[in-house]
Order: sequence, then structure tokens, then C-alpha cells
Amino acid sequence: MKKMKQLSSGAEAIIYLDGKKVIKSRIPKTYRIPELDKRIIRQRTKSERKILTKASQIINAPKPEESKDEDKIIMPYIEGDKLSQKLDFYSQKKQEQIMFNLGKTIAKLHKQHIIHGDLTTSNIILKDNKIFMIDFGLGFQNGKHEDKGVDIHLLKQALEAKHFKHWELLFKQFEKGYRSIQPLEAEKVFEKMKAIEKRGRYRH
Ligand SMILES: Nc1ncnc2c1ncn2[C@@H]1O[C@H](COP(=O)(O)OP(=O)(O)O)[C@@H](O)[C@H]1O
Ligand SMILES: [Mg+2]
Repeated sequence: MKKMKQLSSGAEAIIYLDGKKVIKSRIPKTYRIPELDKRIIRQRTKSERKILTKASQIINAPKPEESKDEDKIIMPYIEGDKLSQKLDFYSQKKQEQIMFNLGKTIAKLHKQHIIHGDLTTSNIILKDNKIFMIDFGLGFQNGKHEDKGVDIHLLKQALEAKHFKHWELLFKQFEKGYRSIQPLEAEKVFEKMKAIEKRGRYRH
């Protein structure tokens, strides 16, 4: 194997940088029966690749290569600022612009019924002032208003926890951007989000 730089390693996947490409490789779980584990990895890889391919046709996201590999996804490396690390250091104005654009980006995905599933600033890269969404590992399609509400609620929680200084202002800008794509739909999604928050079921 060529020497590759490891970018990240999480519970589910290891990310390698191979030249200008990223290889996202799913980690086998030794506590599972190997045959079952293979099947689960194959299924999840296929699902993530499919949803990432769709997303990349709608918004900025790394378009995965078509591949027969069943346990890894190969995609372009997005060289930019990971928002989790950089957002707090931008000017207030830039932070607000980013959140407005993020709102538009997520509304475009939701319009096509794509739910990201893990909306945190660790899964957003800013390149040339444009927003790129990565990590559709928990993504799925055919979102109801409820699913969209949960998606946004997770982002709100992430802002509150990690970028707490101006999180309310930032989330307002996000809502403004989101609303600009489909105003009536947006209101329904926000209503659902509020109901979810009242129930408190998704708090952790
Ligand atoms: N296409 C990409 N371009 C640049 N960096 C990436 C890319 N894909 C993943 N990464 C980096 O690897 C990290 C983990 O990848 P991610 O797909 O989010 O997997 P995980 O499920 O482990 O969170 C990201 O937070 C990012 O820093
Ligand atoms: Mg991630």
C-alpha cells in the first residue's frame, strides 16, 4: 500500500488523504460476526455513496467516484477551513454570512428530501467562501417535515454547545437563509423543530 496520510479516525471510519483524494474507509467491528459485519459495512457504504452523489448534484459536496469497493468511498479532497475549527475566529459579519449561506444550502437539500443526519460544524468545510457539506454517513432520503426539523435542531444544539458566544444570532441567520429558499415549507419545518424541542426527546 502507498503511504497515505491519515486525516481522521472516528468510531465508524478512517479517513486517508491520497494525493488530492480522500478515502473514507469503514472500520470492521470485531464484536460482530464477520459475515454480518461485511454486510452492514457494504450496505452503509453504498447508502452513503448514493446520498453523497445526490447531494453533490444539488449543493457543493465532494462527488464520490463510482467504485465497486464495498467498504470505502473515494472522493475529492476539499481543501479549506473546517468550520468547527475556524468559525469562531472569523469576523461577526463573516460568521453571519456563512450561517445565512448554510441555511440556503440545507434548505436546498431538504427541498430534494435529503436529510444530512449529522449537522455539526465538523461536517462543514468553507472553501473560497463557499460552503461544502461532507459526511453523509447518517444521511437518508424522503424526509418528512419532522425529519427536517430534527436535522435543524441538531445544528442548533451544535451551535449552542460549540459556538455559544453568538449562537442565537447565528441560528437566526441560518433560519433566514433557509426561509429564503421555500418560505412556506420553512415555516412548517421550524414549527416541527419547536415541537421537538418542547418534547425534549432529542436532547442529550
Ligand atoms: N472530502 C473531504 N475533504 C476534506 N476533508 C475531509 C473529507 N472527508 C472527510 N474529511 C475530513 O475527515 C473528517 C472525518 O470525516 P467524516 O466523513 O466526517 O467521517 P466521520 O464519520 O468520522 O465524522 C472530517 O471532519 C474532515 O476533517
Ligand atoms: Mg464527520
